[in-house]
Amino acid sequence: MIEARAITKRYKDGTLALDGVNFTLNKKTTSIIGRNGAGKTTLLRILSTQLLPTSGTASINGLDVVKAAQDVRNIIVSIPQESKPINYLSPLDNVVLYLSARRMRMSEAKEAAEKAIKTVGLWKVREKISDELSGGMKRKIFVAMAIASKSDVVFLDEPTTGLDPLSRIEVWSAIKAIKGQVILTTHYMEEAQALSDDVLMMDKGKILSQGKVGDLLKPFKGKVRVESTKKKSHSYKVGNTYISYIGKNEAEASVMVGDIIKPITLDDLFIKRGVELEY
Ligand SMILES: Nc1ncnc2c1ncn2[C@@H]1O[C@H](COP(=O)(O)OP(=O)(O)OP(=O)(O)O)[C@@H](O)[C@H]1O
Ligand SMILES: [Mg+2]
Repeated sequence: MIEARAITKRYKDGTLALDGVNFTLNKKTTSIIGRNGAGKTTLLRILSTQLLPTSGTASINGLDVVKAAQDVRNIIVSIPQESKPINYLSPLDNVVLYLSARRMRMSEAKEAAEKAIKTVGLWKVREKISDELSGGMKRKIFVAMAIASKSDVVFLDEPTTGLDPLSRIEVWSAIKAIKGQVILTTHYMEEAQALSDDVLMMDKGKILSQGKVGDLLKPFKGKVRVESTKKKSHSYKVGNTYISYIGKNEAEASVMVGDIIKPITLDDLFIKRGVELEY
């Protein structure tokens, strides 16, 4: 379980990246969503003891991330945004090296690494030089590290950014194989929907909403999204497109040539909240 109380982070240059953040995360997997610069990475870095908050407190399974940082490090694993494996080592060696850095015994490390490499689907390329792997395979090495470390809590910052749709689905199933609690950030709403029991939505250093995907989407129940080049009543302007949310039947009756009707996804929560806050 992860608890944050009034966490604030002001960087040296004055940027207020987190502005009094409060939450409890106790579901198996939580996705943190929010626009570029919302504060997601800052939050993960504080929770994973890599950055000190300016004020406020946070704890992981009852351990304070500042006062008991070393104890927290023993029970978590954190995969930073855009992390790269050591290129001249194989996937297997990357994982073994990581586990031995965590002071796991060599025999145990080898066994755990092999098992995790199998779980994430890298067994065939386990001895290949990592430099010669695809982006998705490289990313899976880190998920294998998370699995093999047997940590209670795993932080993944944008684990599938830049991956093709198939690699992304492969990484998802690897993430599902993690036994501990998972906290991930993502810009892909279908990823948040596919992986998480709980979604935390952030903007400008604040929490906008938290809940199950289904609950967050309740305001859109029975509706569809209509994208139009023409202004409609109650439409949101995004770029040159007017987006409106209307009842399914009503949409069918009122669409015009060129309008696009789409089913509701988490994207819509994002669009609605984003536009409302901006204007
Ligand atoms: N080291 C730093 N010094 C100063 N400002 C920083 C630093 N790191 C981040 N920021 C600022 O803090 C704010 C939050 O950044 P953060 O990286 O946490 O956002 P994010 O939600 O992870 O964004 P993205 O989706 O682009 O990864 C931004 O305004 C950013 O410019
Ligand atoms: Mg980030």
